[in-house]
Amino acid sequence: MSASSIGIGVIGCGVISAAYLKALRHFPVVSVRALADQDAAAADARAAEFGVPAVPVDALLADPEIQIVLNLTPPAAHVPVGLRVLAAGKHLYGEKPLGVDLAEGRRLVDAAAAGGLRLGSAPDTFLGGGQQTARRAIDQGAIGRPLGGTAFMMVPGHERWHPNPDFYYAARGGGPLLDMGPYYLTALVQMLGPIAAVTAFGGRFRQPRRIQAGPRAGAEIPVDCLTHIAGSLAFAEGAIVQICTSFEVWRHRHGPIEIYGEAGSLVVPDPNRFDGTVELCPPEGEWRAVPSEHGYGDDNYRGLGLADMAEAIRAGRPHRACGALALHVLEVMAGLIRSAEGAGVVTIESRPERPAALAPGQVVGI
Ligand SMILES: NC(=O)c1ccc[n+]([C@@H]2O[C@H](COP(=O)([O-])OP(=O)(O)OC[C@H]3O[C@@H](n4cnc5c(N)ncnc54)[C@H](O)[C@@H]3O)[C@@H](O)[C@H]2O)c1
Repeated sequence: MSASSIGIGVIGCGVISAAYLKALRHFPVVSVRALADQDAAAADARAAEFGVPAVPVDALLADPEIQIVLNLTPPAAHVPVGLRVLAAGKHLYGEKPLGVDLAEGRRLVDAAAAGGLRLGSAPDTFLGGGQQTARRAIDQGAIGRPLGGTAFMMVPGHERWHPNPDFYYAARGGGPLLDMGPYYLTALVQMLGPIAAVTAFGGRFRQPRRIQAGPRAGAEIPVDCLTHIAGSLAFAEGAIVQICTSFEVWRHRHGPIEIYGEAGSLVVPDPNRFDGTVELCPPEGEWRAVPSEHGYGDDNYRGLGLADMAEAIRAGRPHRACGALALHVLEVMAGLIRSAEGAGVVTIESRPERPAALAPGQVVGI
C-alpha cells in the first residue's frame, strides 16, 4: 500500500472477487480496506484468503477510509447496490453489465453525475496489451478505413463450471449478450467508435439447464432469457459488424473478433482476456503477428480500469472504463435484445468519446 493509495471496499465476494483481489496487488494506487457480502460467510472466506477484514455492507459504506467501492455483485444487484454506494458519497466501479436495462443504467449514470462522483465499469480487458495493440494498428492505419467485421462469443453455457449460474439465465440481466457482450462491444467501440444502429434475431433452445459444478450440481435452473442472439451493428463511422452471442453452441471455429478494412484485415484476440496476439493481413499478402509494445498483456489484470479510475481521480483527468462508455454498450445490448424481440432496426442515441488509448509501455496505477 502506498502512502497516498486510495481506499477500496469490495461488495460481493463470489467467484470473480478472487481474480480482482489477486490482480489489484499490481496497482499501488489502490489498497483494499474491507470486504462485504450479504452472505457473511462468503466475505469471511475471502477475508481469510486475502488478509483483508470482512465487515457488514453498512459498515463498509460508512467507512471514511474507503473512497471507491468495487461492486462485484450479480447483474440484478449492480444498480440497487451501486445507488447505495453513490448515496454514501463514494465513487463506484462495478462489474458488467452497468445495469440489467437501459433505464437502470441511466439512473446510475445520473446519480453519479448528481453526486459529483466517478462511475466506472468493467470490462477493462480493452486496456490489456492484446486489445491496445489492435487499436493502435487501426489508429495507425494498418488496415485503412474499417469497413466491416465479426464478433463471436458462443459457448454451451456457464452451468458447466459456475456453482450458482442462475443469474446467467434470469429474465433480468441474464443471457449471453448481457454477460459477454460488454467485452466484445467495448473492444469494438474502442477500435471503431460508437454504434449508431443495431438489428438482431434471437432464440431460446435448450431448457431447463442443469448445474454441473459445486454443491448444487444436478439442480435444474429455468431459462428466462434469449440464449442465442445474432445481430448486426452499424457504426457511426460506417463499419458494419456481425455479432453472435450464444449459450447454445457446443463448438465452433470462428475467431473472437476480426476487423476488415479498405487496406487489410485484422485478427483481434479474445476481448475477455488481457493478452493475445493480433494478426494483420495486407491486400494480397500473408498473415503476420503484430508485435505488441503495450504492457498488461501477460497476466490477469482485472482491476486495471479501477486503478486507472483511481489514478484519474488523483490527477483530475477522465478515466477510461467510464460510465458513459458502459451506458453506450448497455444501450447497444438493450437495442439488440429489443430488435430480437421484434422491434426491427433500433437506433442508438448515445455517442461516447472513444476512451484515450494507453501509450506503448504506459504504466497505470503507481
Ligand atoms: N464468474 C466470472 O468468471 C465472472 C467474470 C467476469 C465478470 N463477472 C461478473 O461479476 C459479477 C459477479 O459474478 P460472480 O461470478 O462473482 O457471482 P457470484 O454469484 O459468485 O458472487 C456474487 C456475490 O454477491 C453477493 N451479493 C448478491 N447480492 C448482493 C447484495 N445486494 N449485497 C451484497 N452482496 C450481494 C452474493 O452473496 C455473492 O457472494 C457478475 O456481474 C458477473 O457478470 C463474473
